[in-house]
Amino acid sequence: MKESTSNFFTLAIETSCDETSASVLEGERGVCSNIVSSQIDTHRRYGGVVPELASRMHIESIQPAVEMALAGAGCTLADIDLIAVTQGPGLVGALLVGVSYAKGLAVATGKPIVAVNHMEGHIASNYRTHSDLAPPYIALVISGGHTYVLDVLDYDRMVKLGETRDDAVGEAFDKVARVLGLPYPGGAALETMARTGRADLAFPRVFLEPDAFDFSFSGLKTAVLNYLHTAEMKGESVVREDVAASFQAAVFEVLIERALRACAVCGRKAIAVSGGVSNNRTFFERLSQEAMRKGIRVFAPEARFTGDNAAMIGCAGYLSYRAHGPSTLDFTADPNLGL
Ligand code: KG4
Ligand code: ZN
Repeated sequence: MKESTSNFFTLAIETSCDETSASVLEGERGVCSNIVSSQIDTHRRYGGVVPELASRMHIESIQPAVEMALAGAGCTLADIDLIAVTQGPGLVGALLVGVSYAKGLAVATGKPIVAVNHMEGHIASNYRTHSDLAPPYIALVISGGHTYVLDVLDYDRMVKLGETRDDAVGEAFDKVARVLGLPYPGGAALETMARTGRADLAFPRVFLEPDAFDFSFSGLKTAVLNYLHTAEMKGESVVREDVAASFQAAVFEVLIERALRACAVCGRKAIAVSGGVSNNRTFFERLSQEAMRKGIRVFAPEARFTGDNAAMIGCAGYLSYRAHGPSTLDFTADPNLGL
């Protein structure tokens, strides 16, 4: 491995769900290019990601995405020192496209390859934005597919404290957004709608066991659906903005309690939020306010690094390669890869 982090170029590939992404990074933080080809317009008409369609679209987009990432960084494959690819978790067919492509590149070029856990990628997305964020800290990964609270002990060592037992946060946002008439994926639109609403509807806060860090959001989602159906049956009018604000407040209260308690239990003074839902400014502001009172700092990635992107995979891959060296070529796509 080169001694200097500048001039060390990683080509990263991400295809775990519905974004085909390729990125070239210099060292761990320098993003030279980050191409994200979203399939959302295709999946929107089905109200969710259709796995078979996702795989097919990755096959069509991966080569152009890699070519654009290399061109955007002003380099060729010959300049690349490391190939990083998402191994899992995610949709197996989608992951296989990226893993097979990246392995093919590694074999053809003789470059080292590193398999990356998508969740570690989300966690690493904060390193790109915040050079002052360093372990140990509490990570809150809140995306369309995952909800985790973790104690990050070192760049490549973390302990999972809790996770969702049913819906992921983003999934709950998207389902509630849908019944409020917002197009998929409706998380961001729900946040906008909630800005003019009053959070005065008593939707449940599910804390499960008092000392647990796990989450459950399906009961809250059902409570919102029941509220809307009951109002419809009684012919009562519904203020959608109030429903959005009340739902959001219930979700945030649970997330904030978990994150702050994790800090207290593990003795941490920083929380790093990541994943698509970390784009939610209302959440960031509320969490920051409450954390500040306890002397805890809160970090979130730049908006363009909150959703799935290859730059975060490159950052996590580079850190893993620096600590443990390359992966052997016998790894395969793992839809259920744990942390
Ligand atoms: O991280 P991501 O792009 O994909 C996964 O790895 O799952 O997250 C996408 C999720 C979607 O559920 C989307 O509705 C949600 O993030 N999201 C938001 C906001 N922006 C995106 N949820 C709430 N508020 C937002 N502002
Ligand atoms: Zn993700």
